[in-house]
Amino acid sequence: MRAVAVTAFREAPRLMNLPRPIAGPGELLVAITAAGMNPFDAKVLEGILKERPHKFPLVAGVDAAGVVDAVGPGVERFRPGDRIYGQFLHTPVGRGTYAEYTTVPENVGVARIPDGLSDIQAAAIPTAGMTAYDALERLAVGSRSTLAIVGASGGIGSFAVPLASARGARVIGVARVGAGRRLRTLGAHELQDVASPGWVEAVRGEHPDGIDALLDLMSDRAGFARALTLLHPGGRGATTVYAADPARTPPGVTAVTIDLQPSVELLERVTAELARHHLEVAVERTIPLERAPEALAEMRAGRSSGKTVIVL
Ligand SMILES: NC(=O)c1ccc[n+]([C@@H]2O[C@H](COP(=O)([O-])OP(=O)(O)OC[C@H]3O[C@@H](n4cnc5c(N)ncnc54)[C@H](OP(=O)(O)O)[C@@H]3O)[C@@H](O)[C@H]2O)c1
Repeated sequence: MRAVAVTAFREAPRLMNLPRPIAGPGELLVAITAAGMNPFDAKVLEGILKERPHKFPLVAGVDAAGVVDAVGPGVERFRPGDRIYGQFLHTPVGRGTYAEYTTVPENVGVARIPDGLSDIQAAAIPTAGMTAYDALERLAVGSRSTLAIVGASGGIGSFAVPLASARGARVIGVARVGAGRRLRTLGAHELQDVASPGWVEAVRGEHPDGIDALLDLMSDRAGFARALTLLHPGGRGATTVYAADPARTPPGVTAVTIDLQPSVELLERVTAELARHHLEVAVERTIPLERAPEALAEMRAGRSSGKTVIVL
């Protein structure tokens, strides 16, 4: 089967021909139809999970949709022919989703694809959708909230902007200027240029009494600390890149670190909320498997521009 993989950490990923895996006890063999890309995928190839056992060649990718092709002994939840999606990450790390087939224990974060959801949309949801949903819950974003999202034009932003807007929040999208039209379409009410050194002051000028919530998807510690000054006392800020620093958190505000704990329940909650608000999953582009190495390199360079899905 065709797969995008590496034979050692930090090697450039490439298209390989690998043997089709076989479902062991409690496992599903899945014919992948679509694989959602995340910056995390490049980090795994660099060894970010190296304290866990790995299997080489290490096939990239954790998110996918596909069809159960065969089941191993003892499988109870799924049958051949079921359409499933989710985060397929499990130990040993390396049976990834940038491949025509993968195997996954039935008890990791995979679920049936609800009717009406395409494989491409389903594959886009897991990591970014669950992270966005978890962050909005932890920031208590609701109908009266004003929320700034920094790095809003990427994968997580593609879920956080429309979900927050659908909840009735006022959304300030902070991103590169070129992403403005897309952010408006996703539901942002105000835009700020993340590359402008004055964006924090510009938001403060518009919201002199402070904003309720901040979701920061890209800033380092100094940048996150500066953005936290936008919050009014009692406000909450969240980082997905581990940039919270208690020594720099302004008094009276709460800074939380999002550390995604994926689960079927969380996956189904975000999918249900998208459906309840009639939100289309925003997939920016689809690519064939052979273009995945190039797209991974773009992600590593911090240029991703929305959600990319590999179509097999
Ligand atoms: N802690 C957790 O549990 C968890 C879970 C999921 C993800 N994450 C992490 O959260 C981060 C965001 O995830 P994502 O899926 O949204 O990533 P993404 O799709 O790559 O989006 C990142 C966003 O930040 C922008 N950006 C990055 N570097 C920039 C720079 N130097 N200048 C201007 N804009 C910049 C990108 O702009 P462009 O679109 O213009 O490139 C994009 O809008 C990633 O680092 C990811 O690994 C953490």
